[in-house]
Amino acid sequence: MARKDTLQARKIVCGVTGGIAAYKAAGLVSALTQRGADVTVIMTESARRFVTPLTFRTLSRNPVITSLWEEQDPAKPIHISIAEAAEIIVIAPATANMIGKLASGIADDMLTCTVTASTAPIVIAPAMNDAMYHNRFVQRNIKELQKSGMVFVGPEKGRLASGKVGMGRMSAPLDILRAIKDTLKKSG
Ligand SMILES: Cc1cc2nc3c(=O)[nH]c(=O)nc-3n(C[C@H](O)[C@H](O)[C@H](O)COP(=O)(O)O)c2cc1C
Repeated sequence: MARKDTLQARKIVCGVTGGIAAYKAAGLVSALTQRGADVTVIMTESARRFVTPLTFRTLSRNPVITSLWEEQDPAKPIHISIAEAAEIIVIAPATANMIGKLASGIADDMLTCTVTASTAPIVIAPAMNDAMYHNRFVQRNIKELQKSGMVFVGPEKGRLASGKVGMGRMSAPLDILRAIKDTLKKSG
């Protein structure tokens, strides 16, 4: 069926966490929206120190979710509604902190609660300093998430925010988009 090959009307949750690459998530959200996806952005508190919700609200044309404690539908908490509606969840950029929380089953904010409550496929695009990326606990956490079926795209080698060249640069938005499409195709 044609719909399987397209992002048109697919319900995609984009989690944005607190790294310098948060600005690149705007390019991803824009590309998804331009292809007709229905994108809901969830930002962590740290992400909002790097980019404003207004950027994502404008690009996605949807409200941006920033807190567990915002207006609630009395019938169902919003993280459950979003988790159940999501066809796929992508976290870009994903911090070492977020990867660690997910690998430990921690659900203490809107994004971790949504991921934990969802059965949708998850795509993760890590971005961090190369030493953080190579840290053995971060590597252990990535392996745990991969074992659970989460799809990792990147990171790549390149110039990092520190000015150093190393492993840890977030993949380009169009590469993440391709991983989202492939994952959706596989999940049917
Ligand atoms: C300027 C600056 C840049 C940062 N960049 C990154 C980054 O690229 N990757 C990362 O894992 N953490 C980075 N951090 C640390 C995270 O912001 C920190 O771990 C935070 O708790 C992440 O919260 P979150 O995962 O809930 O978004 C950075 C911190 C600062 C102050």
